[in-house]
Amino acid sequence: MSEPLRKNRDDVATSSKTTTIKVWDPIVRLFHWIVVSACVLNLFILEEGHYWHRVTGYVAAAALAIRILWGFIGTKHARFPTSFQRQ
Ligand code: HEM
Repeated sequence: MSEPLRKNRDDVATSSKTTTIKVWDPIVRLFHWIVVSACVLNLFILEEGHYWHRVTGYVAAAALAIRILWGFIGTKHARFPTSFQRQ
């Protein structure tokens, strides 16, 4: 029973080949970095409540709206799970 497990561990330890599989599509990646940038800018760099603070905040809000829409119509891994997909 323990033999196959040890064999698998050896395979992992000695394997030099790694394969990169891109899961997230460009819209998901863009949304992620827009939110990261907007939060860093508004929390630490831009003046509270000033013009560019507001613009940055609205850009983040627009990105969120697009991401929510993408959660319904987007690619497989971007879509929100439904009971239909879980089966
Ligand atoms: C330390 C964190 C933050 C502070 C202290 C702060 C402070 C403020 C203040 C004082 C205002 C003006 C509010 C008014 O005039 O009614 C404002 C507006 C705004 N902030 Fe921030 N903010 C912060 C972080 C953020 C972040 C992370 C976002 C989004 C990424 C954001 C988005 C906005 C937006 C969209 C507005 C305009 C709201 C409006 O038009 O009524 N803020 N913020």
